[in-house]
Amino acid sequence: MRDSEFDFIRSLVYERSRINLGPDKRQLVSARLGKRLRATNVASLGDYCALLQSPGAEEELSHLIDAISTNHTFFFREIAHFDFMRTVAIPEMLERSRIERWSRLRLWSAASSSGEEAYSMAITLAGHCGNFPWQIEATDISHRILAKAAAAIYPAETVDRLAPDLVRTYFQRGYGPQEGKYRVKPALRERVSFHHLNLLEGQPPSTEPFQIIFCRNVMIYFDRPTQEELVERLARRLVPGGYLFVGHSESLTHLRHGLQVVRPAIYRKPANS
Ligand SMILES: C[S@@+](CC[C@H](N)C(=O)[O-])C[C@H]1O[C@@H](n2cnc3c(N)ncnc32)[C@H](O)[C@@H]1O
Repeated sequence: MRDSEFDFIRSLVYERSRINLGPDKRQLVSARLGKRLRATNVASLGDYCALLQSPGAEEELSHLIDAISTNHTFFFREIAHFDFMRTVAIPEMLERSRIERWSRLRLWSAASSSGEEAYSMAITLAGHCGNFPWQIEATDISHRILAKAAAAIYPAETVDRLAPDLVRTYFQRGYGPQEGKYRVKPALRERVSFHHLNLLEGQPPSTEPFQIIFCRNVMIYFDRPTQEELVERLARRLVPGGYLFVGHSESLTHLRHGLQVVRPAIYRKPANS
């Protein structure tokens, strides 16, 4: 890959997603773009860069971001967050709902990837909210991964790692052509809505604030000013006293932010803000 090609792709990806590709990512970019070259039938990276600049390249730009971004995720990733939700955040928010007369709890899985995070949040809420209404919004920049998330079909080997009673309660086993897969049951699926969103550009569709936001394992791809901007955007969407969960490798220690530290990778918007 030529310097000029890498620089072009790098600035385009930054402009579109704010993903910051350092020089160490050159090999990775080249490997991931191989797939796009084959899909678009172009002969070289130079031709691919030209294609990205041509009129009507919008769809390919979205494939480019898809190819570059990392979608790795799994159910109940960083389990301590779900334990905290179950033991602290949910009971506290239910108590506040009673006092402050909230009609429901709203949670946001920001950068949800293929949905495992949002459905893990949903399973935790379903088990600990009783009859109190709740809803989850889940967003990601990748159209492809959002389609997967909305379908909610997962390989058996990823679901079989969960406790058997959770699998029985929240998943349907596939038969025939769906053998070896599970689908999240409709009762849970209908509480989770997926939307396309670039976290640095827009906001989730509804303007109602959230009690809890998960924004995990995406900030590592951004530079520091972008991380600060993102934390500020997320904090604006929390109720006072609401919780922000970030990935365990994404401490906000070196960032300017107005949140309180609760536990490693768990932050809270001050109650009086
Ligand atoms: C590694 S996954 C994290 C999934 C999940 N939050 C977790 O922790 O398991 C990162 C996700 O961030 C998404 N992403 C990257 N840049 C984004 C942006 N600017 N806005 C929204 N999503 C973005 C990617 O498409 C990818 O699905």
